[in-house]
Amino acid sequence: MTSKIPVTIWGATGFTGGELLRILAAHPEMEIAGAISRSSAGTPLGAIHPHLRHAYPDAAFISTEQGFETEARVAFLALPHKSSAETAKNLLGRGTNVVDLSADFRLRSADEYLRWYGVEHPCPELLDDAVYGLPELHREAIGRARLVSGVGCNATSAIFALLPLAREGLIEDARIECRVGSSEAGAHAGEGSAHPLRSRTLRVVSPFVHRHMSELTQELGLAEDRVTMGVTAVELIRGIQCVAHVTLNRQMREADIWKLYRAAWRDERFVSTTPAKPAHLRVPDPRFVMGSNRVLTGFVLADDGRRALAASAIDNLMKGAAGSAVQSANIMMGIDEGAGLGMMPLYPA
Ligand SMILES: NC(=O)c1ccc[n+]([C@@H]2O[C@H](COP(=O)([O-])OP(=O)(O)OC[C@H]3O[C@@H](n4cnc5c(N)ncnc54)[C@H](OP(=O)(O)O)[C@@H]3O)[C@@H](O)[C@H]2O)c1
Repeated sequence: MTSKIPVTIWGATGFTGGELLRILAAHPEMEIAGAISRSSAGTPLGAIHPHLRHAYPDAAFISTEQGFETEARVAFLALPHKSSAETAKNLLGRGTNVVDLSADFRLRSADEYLRWYGVEHPCPELLDDAVYGLPELHREAIGRARLVSGVGCNATSAIFALLPLAREGLIEDARIECRVGSSEAGAHAGEGSAHPLRSRTLRVVSPFVHRHMSELTQELGLAEDRVTMGVTAVELIRGIQCVAHVTLNRQMREADIWKLYRAAWRDERFVSTTPAKPAHLRVPDPRFVMGSNRVLTGFVLADDGRRALAASAIDNLMKGAAGSAVQSANIMMGIDEGAGLGMMPLYPA
């Protein structure tokens, strides 16, 4: 009889669902009780996720109905936004804790959800109880929560780039650009994401406004009219590099900014700051975090002490999605926050 914590994954055929399966295959204290799929119930897991065939040799996806009958202490919802909330409500009613990777429970306000996602929130009554699932911001609240949201991957990259400056109230304005890989768009190719159209592109998707600005401004307490957020599709499958050109509201010395970044991450096992040298590695490159839950941050201060470039690199499927979700679930279950997340980055890749 196993004593591991049983968990389910909903939307397990997708990219973040696959990444949850990969993490949980080696998790010391959690195990998969069910991998749920609307479209592929009965199909072996390895048929959709061939890299995991050896980890789940006898497992197959189960249906939504079977999923609701499966005993689990945590359900990870790797579903599209708008369809996740009802599933979360149902599972919470059955006593299951929920980590929802979609955008449905990231924003505190139903009005903001309507503004940014264009539909009424399906379960606004749950918003007060939901906690934004970035442990580096909300560790204690996550520990008390039954419903934790996932994080927007671009928002996560921008939050880590800017947090040390935002905490000090130093940001007068910030022009954020996220350079993103194709897996951000999920496993199902569309008009803009089919390989012949997406590969080798340098496509500016949104120069000024991106949905994830809503999370970023909520979590960092920044005024919306002080921020722009653009996304550029680049030749990556995984990974986000965030570069933010920041105007500081007072003149700073480089040594003082170093202190802020060091202090911000001193107790954070997954986050660090790139050293000043070599100069060509100072602005973090997602190549150095691929496949891991790690975050690299970095900054460069202009000679005037008022302009800074604040940057970060994450793997969007890990720290930007499944990694943060497992980290949050670990905290909810009262086990080691880093359990199952010790994998090193893959390099070169
Ligand atoms: N990709 C990223 O980098 C990333 C980062 C952060 C957060 N997220 C969020 O995580 C969630 C999953 O993203 P993903 O990239 O894994 O997407 P994905 O690859 O498209 O997978 C989503 C899965 O959900 C299921 N599904 C699709 N439509 C559904 C519906 N209407 N109702 C119920 N199930 C449905 C599908 O599986 P079946 O049809 O087999 O059930 C599909 O495989 C999204 O909300 C996304 O915004 C993604």
